[in-house]
Amino acid sequence: MRKILVFDTTLRDGEQSPGVNLSIEEKVEIALQLERLGVDLIEAGFAASSPGDFAAVKAVAERIKDARVVSLARAVEADIDAAWEALRGAAQPCLHTFLATSPIHRQYKLRMSKEEVLARVEAMVRYAAAKFPEVEFSPEDAGRTEHDFLVEVVTVAVRAGATTINIPDTVGYLTPEEYGYLFRLLREKVPGIEKVRLSAHCHDDLGLATANTLAAIQNGADQFEGTINGIGERAGNVAIEEVALALETRKGVYQATTGLKLTEIARTSRLVSRLTGMIVPPNKAIVGANAFAHESGIHQDGVLKEASTYEIIRPETVGFASNRLVLGKHSGRHAFREHLRALGYNLEGEQLDAVFRQFKELCDRKKQVTDDDILALVEQRLAHP
Ligand code: KIV
Ligand code: ZN
Repeated sequence: MRKILVFDTTLRDGEQSPGVNLSIEEKVEIALQLERLGVDLIEAGFAASSPGDFAAVKAVAERIKDARVVSLARAVEADIDAAWEALRGAAQPCLHTFLATSPIHRQYKLRMSKEEVLARVEAMVRYAAAKFPEVEFSPEDAGRTEHDFLVEVVTVAVRAGATTINIPDTVGYLTPEEYGYLFRLLREKVPGIEKVRLSAHCHDDLGLATANTLAAIQNGADQFEGTINGIGERAGNVAIEEVALALETRKGVYQATTGLKLTEIARTSRLVSRLTGMIVPPNKAIVGANAFAHESGIHQDGVLKEASTYEIIRPETVGFASNRLVLGKHSGRHAFREHLRALGYNLEGEQLDAVFRQFKELCDRKKQVTDDDILALVEQRLAHP
């Protein structure tokens, strides 16, 4: 089993979600929970971007001992210096610097030639490597960068002292085949690549972030970057819990694992949702309220007999107390009887059939039937058998 490092960027890329603004105290609270979850790196913010972000990176750096603490920095000396000031008290400080490399970004955003980009990468990675024990370099919009130029840029960054090369699919444009290929290409063409960590960083604009991250892992990525609940710019970043559970559930396919304490996932998800105000959709994989809920009678009957009939992950694995059998118009008699038992009533035979019939009629009339509704039906039946 290969161990894949988890780089959490909930506090940086995740905080870039429109409408999200975490206070320093909230960032520290999330960072401490991420440490409990067992992530390997925590990107605490972008120190040069504002005094508040500087203070948050510093505060996280002072509290976290078991994970590397990272600050983002543009490839300019002032940003790298600010990151160093914020991180110098960290047990394991790490710099993440980036420069866009795609033709679109070079022409319209940076107005830089390829030669200028290469020179800046060389100079700034070297500058950062003289201060930091670990330097990650990201060619922003790597996904839309010419392959030969990407190889050149990464070669320069590795030569200048980068210890991690991160390949961002910044706009979530690539397919799993295309993204996986980049990792094979770099492993094959960049001298000295075996000495550095290769990292995946996927956005979810086409809903492919998890598939792309898994493709990167299958093609040689040693680390992936993502956020809790998949929050982030636009459609978000890859959801850490999805990749971790795909690796865990399909070990035979990926032959790779994270060091995460999976039972901390539900707690971490709830905390991030509460503090960011970003609601987790009920059908969200792994952490949604319906991820372990069963409504149809056939499914409920199967799960009551043997959970693996309709559950590929046990809810306890990710820290939920149990699965949920939701009683509704699709529910069966078996689940209904079990639910009555949990409410303290052992109904059988004709009595059970009668209450079950009334329950189904009520489901057709009411959007949501509550336990109080069910208890009223039972009490009525017992009073007038
Ligand atoms: O998506 C992206 O390109 C980024 C970089 C800053 C690495 O988040
Ligand atoms: Zn990103």
